[in-house]
Amino acid sequence: MAKYDNIAKTYHEIRIAGKAFYNEYYEVPAMLKLLPKVSGKNVLDLGCGSGVYTKILLKRGAKVVGVDISKNMIDIAKIYAPGAKYLCQDMAKLRLPKNYFDIAFSSLAVPYLVERLPMLKAVYKSLKKNGVFLFSITNPLMEIKDSFDKGTKHYSLIGYVYDNKKKKVEIHGDYFKSKWVLSRWRASRWGRVIAIRHYHRTLEYIINTCVKSGFNITGLYEPQPINIGKKYDAMHYKLRKQLPYFMILKLQK
Ligand SMILES: C[S@@+](CC[C@H](N)C(=O)[O-])C[C@H]1O[C@@H](n2cnc3c(N)ncnc32)[C@H](O)[C@@H]1O
Repeated sequence: MAKYDNIAKTYHEIRIAGKAFYNEYYEVPAMLKLLPKVSGKNVLDLGCGSGVYTKILLKRGAKVVGVDISKNMIDIAKIYAPGAKYLCQDMAKLRLPKNYFDIAFSSLAVPYLVERLPMLKAVYKSLKKNGVFLFSITNPLMEIKDSFDKGTKHYSLIGYVYDNKKKKVEIHGDYFKSKWVLSRWRASRWGRVIAIRHYHRTLEYIINTCVKSGFNITGLYEPQPINIGKKYDAMHYKLRKQLPYFMILKLQK
């Protein structure tokens, strides 16, 4: 199972090649559309990875602090997006200045946390009054699928099949069970499949932890890929126009 320290170089190469459908044509446009003006603002990039968003934030005039648990990712970020301050910290045990940031931002890093309340409370404390926390996660619905290969086919199923004759039900997916789920990124162009685990939480947990931490939820978004993504990858475009993969939350202190 890949840890980001082991895949840092490949991850960064994939991202800066600008060809990762789920990022470039799907999550990134949705996040940038929701991002408030950052010029002159103190911005926290939580789970900043190799600095892909950090660089965008810096270009837009923000003063950025990037936090990531992976030293190798941060080492790349220091070269790719110099000008930010970087902290190698576990989001589960954040040590941040109080009432300091105007905006906290996190792209696809929160799903790696089993417990999210301590992180949310720490971000809340680190923000100034009215500060905004914008973060993207995997959509809890997509995480509960049963994935398996049969013959030449790959199945990814949620729902049930009822046998009228045998009066038996075959269920695919288990929404209420919190668990580690495996994603396989078929980065075949780069010669490898990357397997990454993140933690499934129900929507109830996701929303209630935000509320318990003190934040107001000002928006919940289930984005769709942008139109030009269809030209790049028609199959995944069609898939994600009908079945969600990401969710974005916007919170305010
Ligand atoms: C999918 S990558 C996203 C990186 C970056 N936000 C981007 O968009 O390129 C997830 C990042 O979350 C970081 N991460 C995972 N668990 C973490 C934790 N407990 N504390 C801090 N960072 C964590 C990983 O090291 C990785 O860099």
